[in-house]
Amino acid sequence: MAVIRTEHLSHVYSEGTPFVKMAIQDVNLSIEEGEMVGVIGHTGSGKSTLIQHLNGLLKPTSGKIYIDGEDMWADKAKLREIRFKVGLVFQYPEYQLFEETVYRDIAFGPKNMGLSEEEVDKRVRQAAAFVNVTEEMMNKSPFELSGGQKRRVAIAGVLAMNPKVLILDEPTAGLDPKGRDRILGQIQEYQQDQKNTVLIVSHSMEDVAKFAKKVLVMNQSKVFMYDDTEKVFEHASEIEQMGLAVPQVTKIFMRLADMGYPVDPHTYTIQAAKQQVLRLFEEQEAKQKKGGM
Ligand SMILES: Nc1ncnc2c1ncn2[C@@H]1O[C@H](COP(=O)(O)OP(=O)(O)OP(=O)(O)O)[C@@H](O)[C@H]1O
Ligand SMILES: [Mg+2]
Repeated sequence: MAVIRTEHLSHVYSEGTPFVKMAIQDVNLSIEEGEMVGVIGHTGSGKSTLIQHLNGLLKPTSGKIYIDGEDMWADKAKLREIRFKVGLVFQYPEYQLFEETVYRDIAFGPKNMGLSEEEVDKRVRQAAAFVNVTEEMMNKSPFELSGGQKRRVAIAGVLAMNPKVLILDEPTAGLDPKGRDRILGQIQEYQQDQKNTVLIVSHSMEDVAKFAKKVLVMNQSKVFMYDDTEKVFEHASEIEQMGLAVPQVTKIFMRLADMGYPVDPHTYTIQAAKQQVLRLFEEQEAKQKKGGM
């Protein structure tokens, strides 16, 4: 069964004012349990608006959202439970952190779930360790931390609730490539460990190519595509036209294919690229040997 399903989901901001904005339009999605999904789209395409609906932070203007088959807004009392099931890490971690210490910030979610003090403590320490939040950081104010540290604390706070669905809005924004790979690696590890459903919003096709099994492409407030990563990369040139950069390796292979080389223009992993280049070299060598005979 789909863990998340939306039906004709639309959201309009500032309705009835001159600033009215249809931010998402007729979104019909079905996300299966255990999936690792990348959500991409140009700035303003509706990514943040869409995912804020999935844990009930925003209410649909029209349409429905089902979590584990249950209509999210059918019963207000259930909404609280759903917020524990679907954990969201905000695009701007500053909006998420507000306690006096890092420890208390990470503990906030599990405490609200009504867990025992002992269990809360266990969860806080586990989640902190997962994203390398050190013991030394625990007693600091979240506002003394660097951008990357804040983000890790915000992630730990959501991980500590062990949500069935984990959604992260641009978790790597503003980090250097090393920091980016580290966070993505940690999230990937968490997903493989827990077999939870994970959605990661990203601007970077390069990052998405590394972790996602499925990709949701938003374009101008609508779903352009939701499919296996492989299938989505078959539309690399269209995605590029939407203002998203495709991975460098894909660019090179699109160009090689254009130049007449027998390669797959939709290559998006270094591994697949390597295999094809090696094959080309082998074929060329074989040809030269033949020519020399
Ligand atoms: N609170 C709001 N009030 C009015 N309009 C909004 C609000 N939040 C977002 N919008 C508008 O809705 C559209 C979708 O915004 P959203 O933040 O969902 O896009 P996004 O894909 O997450 O963009 P980004 O990549 O920049 O984070 C944009 O045109 C944006 O300006
Ligand atoms: Mg956004």
